[in-house]
Amino acid sequence: MENTVYNFSAGPAMLPVDVMQQAQAEFCNFNNLGVSVMELSHRSQDFISVATQAEQDLRDLMHIPDNYKVLFLQGGGRGQFAALALNLMGKNAKADYIVTGQWSKSAIAEAEKVGQVRALDGFVKAENEQGPRALATEWDLDPNAAFVHYCINETVDGIEYPFIPETGDVPLVADMSSTILSRPVDVTKFGLIYAGAQKNIGPSGLAVVIVRDDLLDQAFPNTPAIMDYAALAKADSMLNTPPTYAWYLAGLVFKWLKRQGGLTVMGERNKAKADLLYNYVDASDFYSNSVHPEARSWMNIPFQLKDDSLNEAFLAQAKAAGLVALKGHRLVGGMRASVYNAMPIEGVQALVDFMDKFAKQQG
Ligand SMILES: Cc1ncc(COP(=O)(O)O)c(C=O)c1O
Repeated sequence: MENTVYNFSAGPAMLPVDVMQQAQAEFCNFNNLGVSVMELSHRSQDFISVATQAEQDLRDLMHIPDNYKVLFLQGGGRGQFAALALNLMGKNAKADYIVTGQWSKSAIAEAEKVGQVRALDGFVKAENEQGPRALATEWDLDPNAAFVHYCINETVDGIEYPFIPETGDVPLVADMSSTILSRPVDVTKFGLIYAGAQKNIGPSGLAVVIVRDDLLDQAFPNTPAIMDYAALAKADSMLNTPPTYAWYLAGLVFKWLKRQGGLTVMGERNKAKADLLYNYVDASDFYSNSVHPEARSWMNIPFQLKDDSLNEAFLAQAKAAGLVALKGHRLVGGMRASVYNAMPIEGVQALVDFMDKFAKQQG
């Protein structure tokens, strides 16, 4: 059965229907083995084939060069806030963090536990106090920092970088949780990329880390083995039992992305989806989005109704129309439509049609 609603959840988020149908078809009997993939030992050749194929497909999709390790880990995005600091600050406990919203702030809180962190404003000064602020393209970076961290897409605030920050010789570390695989990206510009899976990769319980080989020798000596990238890379992400089912499902998503035509095609589709919604919001007197036009996310689109007291009615009527999980993050309020890879443009069109009807009905 197909999904009966369009799910705008920020994560765990909508997955491609094809992927879930395939998982369903082979749920009890994977590859004619008579067992579920969930019941296979991670040391079995059958599971190792699933795992290596998923890694290869991700490498193909993102053009990840051989001098980068790809890790499939537990602990989600937040686990990596801690792990990356433990792994990269052991020899030089100084890092620069660019702050653009809620998730970049949360990442700092973990790094501060193990080293000296400088929080750098990610925005240029506003021309007026009310207007939206553009993303800064230059920062007062420390050339001796172990790395510069930024969050490419702030899931809560709906702010996304359309460019890759230039950090000279200092390795660039990126939280790509809510934008990975949504468009092409030049991996060679990064020292480390990480992402929680539950948006564009697969189910929660998994994080993907893409790390350049030369950064694997700077961990604190007391880094727990389960967070130690070098140890995890040596064990092919199987130092302990990995989240096997989530890894398998991620592999199905990667195959699906390849069938769609890869990240260039996804980027075109995602831009078209985002344009559709932003153009509608901008043309309306009833809805608004306060993010600078050049920093608007293609994945998470917050919008406000002109009168907050209508929020509950909007959400209830949207749900009745088959449009779910539109409530904005509690820190931002209003609405948020998350339109990850699995959301078809028909879903965004249905949302725009509903928004228009709702606005007209309110007069
Ligand atoms: C950009 C970003 N980073 C980190 C996280 C934290 O991920 P997790 O809940 O997997 O720890 C999230 C979660 O939504 C996120 O959107």
